[in-house]
Amino acid sequence: MFEIKSKDGLGRTGVLETGHGKVKTPALMPVIHPGKQTIDVGAHGAEIVITNSYIIYRNPELREKALRDGVHKLINFKGPVVTDSGSFQLSEYGEIDVTNDEIVMFQDEIGTDIGTSLDIPTPPGVSHRRALKEVEVTLQRAEEALEYRERMMLNAVVQGSTHPDLRSYCASRLAELPVEVHPIGAVVPLMESYRYRELVDAVLSSVSELPPSRPRHLMGAGHPMIFALAVSMGCDLFDSAAYILYAEDDRLLSTEGTHKLENMQEMPCSCSVCMDHTPQELMGMDKEDRRNLIAEHNLHVSFAEIRKVRQAVYDGSLMELVEERCRAHPRLLDGYRRMSAYADLIEKFEPRSKRSAFFYTGPESLGRVEVHRHISWVRENLRDGTLIMRAPEKPYSSNLSLGKVKYVSEKPLNDDSLNFAFLDIPFGIIPLELDQVYPLAQNDAPLLRDLDSEEFLRKLITEFRDKIALEESLMGDLGVEFPSGYRGEADVLVDDLRRIRMIADYQFGEGAGEALFDDDVRIERSRKTGKIRHIYTNEKLICTMRASDGLLVLSAEGAVRLHRGKGYPANRVVVNEDSEPFARNGKSIFAKFIIDCDVNIRAGDEVLIVSAGDELLATGRALLCAEEMMDLNYGQAVKTRKGGF
Ligand code: GUN
Ligand code: ZN
Repeated sequence: MFEIKSKDGLGRTGVLETGHGKVKTPALMPVIHPGKQTIDVGAHGAEIVITNSYIIYRNPELREKALRDGVHKLINFKGPVVTDSGSFQLSEYGEIDVTNDEIVMFQDEIGTDIGTSLDIPTPPGVSHRRALKEVEVTLQRAEEALEYRERMMLNAVVQGSTHPDLRSYCASRLAELPVEVHPIGAVVPLMESYRYRELVDAVLSSVSELPPSRPRHLMGAGHPMIFALAVSMGCDLFDSAAYILYAEDDRLLSTEGTHKLENMQEMPCSCSVCMDHTPQELMGMDKEDRRNLIAEHNLHVSFAEIRKVRQAVYDGSLMELVEERCRAHPRLLDGYRRMSAYADLIEKFEPRSKRSAFFYTGPESLGRVEVHRHISWVRENLRDGTLIMRAPEKPYSSNLSLGKVKYVSEKPLNDDSLNFAFLDIPFGIIPLELDQVYPLAQNDAPLLRDLDSEEFLRKLITEFRDKIALEESLMGDLGVEFPSGYRGEADVLVDDLRRIRMIADYQFGEGAGEALFDDDVRIERSRKTGKIRHIYTNEKLICTMRASDGLLVLSAEGAVRLHRGKGYPANRVVVNEDSEPFARNGKSIFAKFIIDCDVNIRAGDEVLIVSAGDELLATGRALLCAEEMMDLNYGQAVKTRKGGF
């Protein structure tokens, strides 16, 4: 029912299929007021909407019409309709007069596509004891709803107030139920009071336990300022009452915040409302006309932002967009900074290569998961006796005019076996062999460093000082000293075989370089750039080095070597018997046929496709990460390359 199409960190674009058609995600669902709606949200780009079944249920006229004609006719929308249960009214007014079974069955009867059980929206800041008690009720109601529903898909809402452990607990219990969508509830009070840090904790502690195969709905999030950040935390659905509520109040939404009409000299965008009216004209209109026009503007900017976010996920530039958006408000920036605490979670979903370069937009960029991943690799793999040098322009070695480098280290080094690395922002220490590999070369940062960046580099150098030598002229710049300084001088060398082996290790894990490349491989370079393009053994192609990201693409021979050299389950995607012939014929692998895989696989990785008996069937490019491959039942998981096995 939910298929993932492209990915950037925890963010994804996808397709959600319902009884009333497919919708592209991330999606914004405008809130429709049954009976009061005046704006045609479909005309503004809504593919899916949400309305409130409790309001319908409580109004005899609406209720009768909904039961007779269905909810789609009632609100005059042909696409998928989601209904809420009245829980929000419960949180606003303290009580409602409907039971879980009544409201769930009612939603099913009126033909809603995705219905919601009567969860308890526990507000922020309550005691752990109360939050847990209410989570248990929410869990029980979600479970009961499974018995009362017949046709509709079900929302199972994550609660837990501002207790991350309870959010995780609730999410992990809901993950076991056969429901279709997971809203994250009771976050409206956090957003209204700009408590974005706690919002990030609530969302990520929930998402960490939710199955990646189900869409997540950030309930009550309708301000376009938050969409990019929310998608980067793995949210797929939003609902907006904001477009109309803000309009009632003469406020215009934008990705930078909210503008009060009475303070406006200029209209803020280029939508038809803004092009055709001045603020003064709007002020002079009667209330209802003005409200409708502002609501149209609000919908316009909200859908424009959703499209922009989807494009950013596709491009791999979502975090650059998030960093831009989070400058709209200091509290939003706080929320974004908090995300770095979840780097290990996000890393599992982060592709190793993307279409766009990594841009440093400020010190927060140093907290991004790409940096975290690389520094972790450096911690495990930096070779003893590495000479750290000032970085020339990127890519580094093609600008190499270093020749002899004077260095200082804490202990004497063996000049014959020196390794070389560059010191740079944002990736810190970059071994010379990896200087063309994504994202170590495909990034940019200001040439004038800020204090945070200087501190980041200083800390790294200090951490590794017993393993490294430092180019002498860097010492003063960084303000680090090697008191017992041993001085030396070395010629910088880039050895091809070392380069390709290290790239293979970086890409496929330790040992891959040895497995793929014997000492006598033949290297073919691009005539234009001089860079390595093809690597052969005798006359057989082992792999190609992709120009866009410097990573290796395996040929059949390369796959055989990697398979032979690295034991199960490394780099493998295991398919069931039914899909073996398809894999052999170069057909794409669908997620539902996958029975096991290497946990280190990320979307975009080159993988080996094997049978349950570890027989090599094909090679291909993963479209999903390991967690997703194991959890999803829809859509493609690996794009297979033509066989030859
Ligand atoms: N709308 C906004 N927040 C919530 C929530 O926590 N639960 C439900 N059911 N609806 C909401
Ligand atoms: Zn506008």
